[in-house]
This record gives sequence, C-alpha cells and structure tokens, in this order.
Amino acid sequence: MRRTPTPINRYGQGRSRILRILLVDDDPALRELLRTTFEVADVDVTEAASAAEARRAIVAQRPSVIVLDVQMPVESGLDFCRDLKASPETRDIPVILLTGSEGGTDSAAKRAGAEAFLRKPFSPLELLSVAERLAGGLYGVPFRASKKQPNKPGEELLLYARDLRHMLELERGQRQLLQSAYMETVSALASALESKDTGTRAHSQRVQNYACALAAAVDDREVTDDITTQYGFLLHDVGKIGIPDGILQKAGPLSPAERRRMQTHTVLGEAMLSGVAFLQGEGLRIVRSHHERWDGRGYPDGLAKTDIPRGARIFAVADSLDAMTSNRPYRRALSWDTARQEILGQSRRQFDPDVVEAFLDCEPELRNIKRELAAA
Ligand SMILES: [Fe+2]
Repeated sequence: MRRTPTPINRYGQGRSRILRILLVDDDPALRELLRTTFEVADVDVTEAASAAEARRAIVAQRPSVIVLDVQMPVESGLDFCRDLKASPETRDIPVILLTGSEGGTDSAAKRAGAEAFLRKPFSPLELLSVAERLAGGLYGVPFRASKKQPNKPGEELLLYARDLRHMLELERGQRQLLQSAYMETVSALASALESKDTGTRAHSQRVQNYACALAAAVDDREVTDDITTQYGFLLHDVGKIGIPDGILQKAGPLSPAERRRMQTHTVLGEAMLSGVAFLQGEGLRIVRSHHERWDGRGYPDGLAKTDIPRGARIFAVADSLDAMTSNRPYRRALSWDTARQEILGQSRRQFDPDVVEAFLDCEPELRNIKRELAAA
C-alpha cells in the first residue's frame, strides 16, 4: 500500500475537503500513471494491489472514492465491490469499476452495485471528473459507459495527448488571467502616480497607446514580443514618487538644481522596480533610458544612437508627442501640426530617425488614439 503526501488544496483545509482516491489495481504501471496524473491535480491517492490490501487501506483511512479494477487475481473486483456494498461500513463509499475489453462486464458492474464504470483504456481526466462528481455526493450520476472502441492500438496515447492538450489550454488561460491582473495593477499604479505628477489620469493611457502603435510600426519583434515593454510604457515615470511636489508641480521653469533633482526620476524608477520579477527586460530599460537622446545629450547615461534601448527610443517620441499636445501648468497645448513639425525637426537630434519615420507611417492611427481617448 502506497500513499501520496496529503495535499493542501481545494478539497483541503477550511471549508472544503480533500478528495481521497483508493486505487485498487494489480497493474503497478497503471497505478503509477494514475497516481502521477492525480498528484498534479492535488488529489490524495492511496494505492492497493489487491482486495486484501484495499481492505486494510479503508480501515486506516476512509477514502472518498474507490477506483477498482475488475480483473484481479484471488478476489476479483466484482466480488470485492459486492462485498463493499453489502457492508454497512463501506456501502456509502462510491466505487468506480475499471472494466476490461470483454463484453458483459458493464452490466455485471451495475449488478455488483458500483456507482460508475469506465472501460479501459480511459482518459485520466475523465476518471478524475467522475471521481469528483461522486465524491461531491452526486451519487445519482448515470453510469458512464465509454463509447470508445476499447484496446484500439495507440488509443491510450491519444487519450493522454488529449488530456495534456486540455491541461495546457487551462494553464494558458490561467497565465493570461495573471498577466491581465498584473496589467490592471500596473495601470492603477500609473494612474495614481499621474494624479501626483500632472494632475490628470489620461497621460499614461495615451502615451502607452501611442508607444504601442509606434512599436508596431517600427516592427521590432524584440520590443513588441516582450510583455514587459507595456509595463515600461506605463510606469516610465514611477521614479517621480521620489521627487518633491514643489518641483513636480512648479508652474515656472526649474532651476538647474531642481532640474538635476527631477532628472533622477529615471534611476530612482529603475531602482524601485529592479526587484519586481515580471518587469525585468525591456520594461526596466525604458524606465531608465526614456530621456536619452539620439545625439547623446540626454540623461541619465548620455547614451547615443543605437546604444539607447529600442523601447526607450520609441517611447521618447510617444512621450514628447503627448507632452506637446497636452496642457501643462505653464503653457497651453500645442496643435497637432506644430507637434508634428517639432518631431520631424528633432529627427537625428532628440529622436531615432527610424522611429520618426514610423511616426509618419502611423500618424492617422495616433490621431485616432487622441480623439478616441478624449471622447472616452
Ligand atoms: Fe520621465
């Protein structure tokens, strides 16, 4: 008799309970396969190679469900099932019989009192789903006879492949949920930050949309395929949390000392986010380098041309476009056409010429973004 460690799971502590399966089969390979599969699903599996071993296991710990092979030496699964159903102590434990390829065993399983049966070969997920339903008290579940032709060569492998694909789909869905949760959290942080900085909440959304459109037009897969790029676009100014309000919200021009202090928001932001695992990559580089210039006169590192991370070069155009076309405490917004002229004029000075070209390619889309977000 072999028992897996008791998992703490959705059947586990507190309101729910553990699903305990007693697996009775004389085939050690099948037991191993099922135990490994069920462990992934956090099910407590006890194995028994015979009816005698299974009886001892039931006394040691009552299972939620018994999965029982029909064909076993000494005492068959059918005999053992009848015996279990005849005893007041065990008759309430649901039994799933695993039947072989011979005809007639399905009705024999019913007569023996089993709650369900599955024909070999079966899908482990199908077995798990029947076990979960029976353990949940739905004992009126109709018998589930597989319509599959049993023992077709390779069918068991196909069933496992199908299960694997199903699990991968579930896992992918979970990952997407997690990513959108990250994104919502980061967006909320960016909005909170903006209230402190510019007093508006629309900048981060606009600038992120502009930057995404520009990145698509530049068509650099390293940037567009890196999910952290999006986080970098949203959190580029997170370091401003460490800049005093008196500087952030000053209506007039900054003094040289104030300007130097303001410029530290790039390295402050990078330091703040450097321990966050899901931001490592292009996103963090955008936070540090979004004020670098193509001609090398930017900050904090004075990088030039292609030494500046591509995501930061793309973002610089998006950020300037939004800054110029938005009202600021010390000036009114410039017209789109004036901003456009300024961006073209800064090609090879402040901005990467490839990104300026991409700006021209996707300008109608950028105008749409501004219109749509203004109307929202
Ligand atoms: Fe900035």
